[in-house]
Order: sequence, then C-alpha cells, then structure tokens
Amino acid sequence: MTTANRLDITLGEAIFSLRAIRRIKPDPIPDNDLHTILDAARQAPNGANRQPWHFIVLRDAEVRKRFGAIYRVAWWAKRNDEGFFKPEDIPDHYKPAMALADDIGQVPAIVLVCTTAPGSRESVIPATQNLLLSARALGIGGTITSLHPKVSDDVRELLDLPDGAEVVYCVPLGYPQGRFGPVTRKPLSEVVSVDRWGSVPEWAPPG
Ligand SMILES: Cc1cc2nc3c(=O)[nH]c(=O)nc-3n(C[C@H](O)[C@H](O)[C@H](O)COP(=O)(O)O)c2cc1C
Repeated sequence: MTTANRLDITLGEAIFSLRAIRRIKPDPIPDNDLHTILDAARQAPNGANRQPWHFIVLRDAEVRKRFGAIYRVAWWAKRNDEGFFKPEDIPDHYKPAMALADDIGQVPAIVLVCTTAPGSRESVIPATQNLLLSARALGIGGTITSLHPKVSDDVRELLDLPDGAEVVYCVPLGYPQGRFGPVTRKPLSEVVSVDRWGSVPEWAPPG
C-alpha cells in the first residue's frame, strides 16, 4: 500500500480538525506510521526543490529524556524573555504548553525538523504541515514547537548536528489524550480582502 493510500480520511476533515495536541499517551507509534508521516513530509514544496531538510525522530527513552530536559530549559527561556519566571506567573493560555514542557520527554516520538542550509528555514514549513496533516490522518496528534538560542549548543551536542544544520521545529507526536479539532480562528472577513486591503468580499461574512 502506498503512503497516499494510507492517508484515507478526507483532506477537509484533516485540515479542519488539525489542532495542537499537547496531551499525548505514551503508546508507541508503529514504524510504518512514522514512515508514512515522514514520507508525506518530504513531498512538500520547498525553495528550488533543494529539499534542505532533515528529520530526526527521537524514539529512544534515554534520548527523549535528555531532550525533554533541554526542551524544558528552552521553554522557560522563552517565557523569561517575556517576563515570566515561575509557574504562578504563567498566563492561562500558556498552561497547556507549560505542561508539555514538563512532559515532552515521555511522548513516544519527537520529530526535530532541521534545516540543512543557512537561510533555508522557510523551506521546512510546508513539510512540517504535511507531517502534521498526515499524522492527523493516522489518528496521531502533535504540535509545532520551537526551541531557544540558549539551548542551541546542548541540542547540537545531543543530536550530533553537522555544521550548517539547525533545528527549526520540534514536533512531539503520539496518540491524543483528548480529541482533535475543531479550532478557533478569526472569521474570514477579518483576514481576507479582494483586490485591495480592506475590501471584504461578500462571500467572506463575519462570524
Ligand atoms: C511557528 C509556531 C511555533 C509554535 N510554538 C509553539 C511552542 O513553542 N509550544 C507550543 O506548545 N505550541 C507552539 N505552537 C502551537 C500554537 O500555539 C498553536 O498552533 C496555536 O495556538 C493554535 O492552536 P490550535 O491549533 O490548537 O487552535 C506553535 C505554532 C507555530 C505555527
């Protein structure tokens, strides 16, 4: 069976129910599902088809634990930059992300989406979305997350990153404890114009 045939929920269902899944069961992801997810990721458009990406899948328990400790430092470094220093300071909208920062080491697979060439970070963005949509089609959830310069050296050492390569996104993956979608987004009328900024089409009503 080809990768395309394994992704057999509708595209619409996948897109409209793809939300950030941060509470993840520890159950392992089968090899063939990881194959499908990464095979879908590498089909994505990218600048000049240079495919300047590399995906490191963390599965070993000890590696995940060590990465989890680094991720937690990175998450708090980002919050420190915003003026938050302890759990009591953290606003409610960050609470699920804070919990993920504590738990990410127990997530069954963590995909580190890397760029292999300087100036090519944008090229891994469509691949990351392909990765998440194909995971969704297999009942596997996750979310895009980012690290922080404070942990760059630790990440490089843990993963043996070659010169020129860097982690762009860190995507925890696994079976959701909760449910997929729907998502809450601004109405079309706030985000779409036709011909010039601010001319809202009648097919994009508010709400
Ligand atoms: C570029 C980018 C960076 C993100 N970084 C993080 C992150 O560091 N930690 C996290 O938990 N979620 C992160 N997210 C997930 C967003 O918080 C999430 O997509 C957004 O809040 C919408 O959530 P929803 O799809 O569940 O509605 C990131 C998403 C994007 C696109």
